[in-house]
Amino acid sequence: MDKPLIFAIETSCDETSVAILRGPKEIVYHKISSQIDIHKPFGGVVPEVASRKHLEMVNPMIQEAFSETGLAYSAVDLIGVTKGPGLVGALLVGIAAAKAMAFALDVPLVGVNHMHGHLAANELCHADLPYPHLSLVVSGGHTYLIEVTGRLTYRLRGTTRDDAAGEAFDKTARALGMEYPGGALIQKAAEMGNADRYALPRILLEKDSYDFSFSGLKTAVLQLLQKEKDKADYKMEDMAASFQEAVVDTLVIKCMRLVKETGIKDLTLSGGVAANARLREKLEAALQEVGGRLYAPSVILSTDNAAMIATAAYYTWKKHGPDDFTLGVHPNLAL
Ligand code: KG4
Ligand code: ZN
Repeated sequence: MDKPLIFAIETSCDETSVAILRGPKEIVYHKISSQIDIHKPFGGVVPEVASRKHLEMVNPMIQEAFSETGLAYSAVDLIGVTKGPGLVGALLVGIAAAKAMAFALDVPLVGVNHMHGHLAANELCHADLPYPHLSLVVSGGHTYLIEVTGRLTYRLRGTTRDDAAGEAFDKTARALGMEYPGGALIQKAAEMGNADRYALPRILLEKDSYDFSFSGLKTAVLQLLQKEKDKADYKMEDMAASFQEAVVDTLVIKCMRLVKETGIKDLTLSGGVAANARLREKLEAALQEVGGRLYAPSVILSTDNAAMIATAAYYTWKKHGPDDFTLGVHPNLAL
């Protein structure tokens, strides 16, 4: 089976997504249903609300995938589904749907590590992805700096000790009076601001560490806001730009340190924060300076989606074979 028809489901957080791929790189159908508007009033994702919404969406979305493509259910060769990390109730919905499909269609079932999915987004977008490469996965839940030695062989070099990069964006956005999720809104405000206006720390931890810590930066913004927000010359856009620059600098500094240590000059970016234009711009420039290249997925494939899960399912299945029906959810699954 050179190019199996892969059906994939992603329900790890607040996006219900289904995709059909022919082989690991050809998207036949892809749909993402975001729950953001439902969670907005709560200022973050409410797990129980997320599970219920996935339950409501998953079956109609599966049916729609087949009715819109005109494909028969029997054409499917492989089912991929996110098994973790993520919200337990949300993951269970996807796993149950995937198991039912695999059982009814009598095709292999593959549980996918959501982080492998984010990494696979770049496989999906770039035909010429080189190995080894480095990878920065930055989302609302994760901040991972990874040495990718081969397909599905990873060495985790750094992670966050507190807030994830996206979480720092969201919490700071809230402090600046923006809605959830605030990452893209901070970027938009920052485009009209001066990043040199407010001095904020680049928290780099120990000299030899690739870990990140963003909670100190968030606190620094809060303290600065207390001092500045009632002054006549306070400008929210300047605060947003100064904060964004501090996060971006911290991420770029660590990535470039790892480039220097390993001699690996190509780096992939993924996760929701990969949509950040300033991060892309600064990383790209820093890599170009040392003769490296930045690989980033399209914005739609940066965020949580089932297409990347299908790609990761293909490679997981090729390497490890299928799962059986005891497949469970792994909310804290490591890389
Ligand atoms: O990968 P993702 O869609 O979901 C998780 O698995 O978390 O990432 C969502 C995160 C949110 O924290 C959101 O604020 C952030 O990505 N984000 C951004 C931008 N677009 C989304 N952060 C900074 N700049 C952006 N343009
Ligand atoms: Zn994600």
